[in-house]
Amino acid sequence: MAVVVPQFTCELPGTLRFVTTDIEATARSIHQVLRSSPTSSPIDRALHAKGTIALGGFTPSGALSDLTTAPHIVTVATSAIVRFSHPGGDPQVLDALPSGRGMAVKLATPDGVHDLVGVSSPAFLVRDGSSFLELLAARAPDPATGEPDPDAILAFVSAHPESLPAIQAAMTARVPTSYCSLTYNGLHTFFLVDAAGVRHPFRWSWVPVAGEAYLDSPVDEGLDLAAELTDRLARHPADAGFELEVQFGEPGDPTGDPTVIWPERPTVVAGRLDLTAIAGEVEPIIFDPTNVIAGVALDDDDEILQLRSATYGLSYAARTSRG
Ligand code: HEM
Repeated sequence: MAVVVPQFTCELPGTLRFVTTDIEATARSIHQVLRSSPTSSPIDRALHAKGTIALGGFTPSGALSDLTTAPHIVTVATSAIVRFSHPGGDPQVLDALPSGRGMAVKLATPDGVHDLVGVSSPAFLVRDGSSFLELLAARAPDPATGEPDPDAILAFVSAHPESLPAIQAAMTARVPTSYCSLTYNGLHTFFLVDAAGVRHPFRWSWVPVAGEAYLDSPVDEGLDLAAELTDRLARHPADAGFELEVQFGEPGDPTGDPTVIWPERPTVVAGRLDLTAIAGEVEPIIFDPTNVIAGVALDDDDEILQLRSATYGLSYAARTSRG
């Protein structure tokens, strides 16, 4: 079934932003701050340090075939590597800790790799790198208490009201029953590019086929989401899947800013991801949200997207240069 969406770019007058930050320098500062945390491990990721990797396959629905030339979204089934993670930089963090979670998917398409790297939050915390550095400073533990200073966080939020949706989501996050019981959102705007070169702005989410489910507190401190995934793949593999849902932009939806939640509107299922097994040795592996192929384009006004790529590269270089 073909889907009809408006043909335009969202960069309307008044919402146009230019990326002016020195991305590499900001990425180095961020990486240095993250690595200075006492719980950071030099051989693990600077963030999302604790994770589990599975293998699977992605089958397109064909619903978007008129809107992109990317083969894996049109007709071609591809293999997938999927890493689920806890967002912090501590590789020993308890799974029972309430927080958002991450899901990174690498699709091996005939035309190259397409990475879809998302989180369970509906929005990101900041729209530029200097604000992210401010946030890291505000969240740094107070030497007197060993805990973040609530006044510093409050001061950050009042200076950056755009961070509120993500902060609210973090404060109300619950513990999932499974890595497969959360919806994970890409948050950035991307573009499908059709055969005529027309760009269709969209955002994506991985939506669990088994539905969302959370544990009631108090949660057993021994909760082990990696073991749960192994068990699920052995006993209920049909419940270890996700649909790739796509929401199209409409005029007035800002691009270049992952702090903004677009209005709710109907979505289209682009395809389905089925997990089949826990992965053997696939590390070291890097998932980079700027890894796209022809038929999918990046949002050049999105500073966070560029910053992610630069910071992930530094984190990867650091964790693979040891030992
Ligand atoms: C200023 C913005 C951000 C910074 C500096 C940042 C930093 C990082 C770093 C350093 C890593 C480890 C990379 C590696 O060693 O391979 C990472 C991983 C990750 N980030 Fe971000 N991040 C940012 C924004 C985001 C956003 C907006 C999302 C979701 C849309 C996200 C989702 C993830 C996920 C899921 C992983 C784990 C990837 C994996 O499993 O290998 N991050 N991030």
